[in-house]
Amino acid sequence: MHTCSHVLVVDDQITHLQALCDVLTQHGFSVSGCATGEAALAHLREGGVDVLLTDLVMPQIDGLALLEAAIRLDPLIACVIMTGAGTVDSAVRAMKGGASDYIVKPFKAAALLPILHRAAEARQLRQQNQALEAALRERVAQLASLNVSLEAARQEAERANHAKTVFLSSMSHELRTPLNSILGFAQILASSKFRKFDNDHQRFAANIVQAGRHLLALVNEVLDLAKIESGKIALQLDRVELAPLLQQACEVVAPLAQARKVTLAVPAVTIPALCADPVRLRQILVNLLSNAVKYNRAGGTVQMRCSAIDGYASIAVSDTGLGLSADQQAALFKPFDRAGREHSDIEGTGLGLVITQRLVEAMRGRITVESELGTGSTFCVELPLAALAPPPAASLAGG
Ligand SMILES: Nc1ncnc2c1ncn2[C@@H]1O[C@H](COP(=O)(O)OP(=O)(O)OP(=O)(O)O)[C@@H](O)[C@H]1O
Ligand SMILES: [Mg+2]
Repeated sequence: MHTCSHVLVVDDQITHLQALCDVLTQHGFSVSGCATGEAALAHLREGGVDVLLTDLVMPQIDGLALLEAAIRLDPLIACVIMTGAGTVDSAVRAMKGGASDYIVKPFKAAALLPILHRAAEARQLRQQNQALEAALRERVAQLASLNVSLEAARQEAERANHAKTVFLSSMSHELRTPLNSILGFAQILASSKFRKFDNDHQRFAANIVQAGRHLLALVNEVLDLAKIESGKIALQLDRVELAPLLQQACEVVAPLAQARKVTLAVPAVTIPALCADPVRLRQILVNLLSNAVKYNRAGGTVQMRCSAIDGYASIAVSDTGLGLSADQQAALFKPFDRAGREHSDIEGTGLGLVITQRLVEAMRGRITVESELGTGSTFCVELPLAALAPPPAASLAGG
């Protein structure tokens, strides 16, 4: 099995050397023989020896010195020492010096062969081990350099994200002021009290007001998201009752629901107080309810359900509307992604759910969605109850 291994036989008794070389060659080893330690050393320097089989007692360079030199030249080499019965002590020393095995002279080929096979196998295992270690070292070095590039890329992305946030929040400020002024004057022009305009003019002005409101909502949401992402928004976490907030949210959404002939089914709230920022919680409720109305069908229903379990309040908003495919659900919670409704006549900016998710998570809650295309969707927000929540934290960490 290790017949391809190369064995260097060293013995100063020429007849013994010759006999050994012959036997080993017969058994398929590749063999070379040397009669002196010096000649063997020269051979070892050339390389290519897998197993060194050496006599112990030789003039000048003896077996022990040869063993030492061989291991210095090739730390993986396997060495077998041949020793007379009287020099077994030296054989033990040779083993301590790194020899793989020894055999006591005189010996038969049948005794030597298994020892040589073992030695050759040990050599092969050491070589494989070394190759594996080298591969492992290389892999570790690759991973380390990959980590460095990843970290650099992460820092770059963070810098770019920060620059985007700064840009957005300053732009939003710059846009809001003139936009409010445009809206204000357009409202005056659209008003029936402004008598210099006829009906057509008023209709045009009303269009300006409507488009302006949409733009202002977009700017406000962008500003809100930028603030949340840069950690500049302070959350006022407090003990809040859900019922009044829910009522306020329903009042905001009621006109839209009426216009779309959607019924709002809101139960009496029986769950304990929550730990939340009341203004932001109302914003969350308005976002979910307005979506459930906007993406409903005419004559559809929006059903709210509230429950408390394991220290958390669960607020679920179900609709009987368009529903969302698995692909659309995967795209939810991404800024400006309107799940393929970009060109529909349902107005929206694609930021409501992103902001909602960030706010819910900042309040140590989570938002989930279950939906079936054509049947409807349920968005569920879970927030900690006040009783179990730790003392309110003051601000929202950057997203
Ligand atoms: N209840 C729902 N049923 C079906 N689709 C929904 C529902 N809620 C959200 N979606 C889909 O997810 C998209 C993202 O919702 P999101 O509330 O973030 O944005 P929006 O409603 O388009 O705009 P806005 O920023 O004004 O809320 C929507 O455009 C809509 O396609
Ligand atoms: Mg929305």
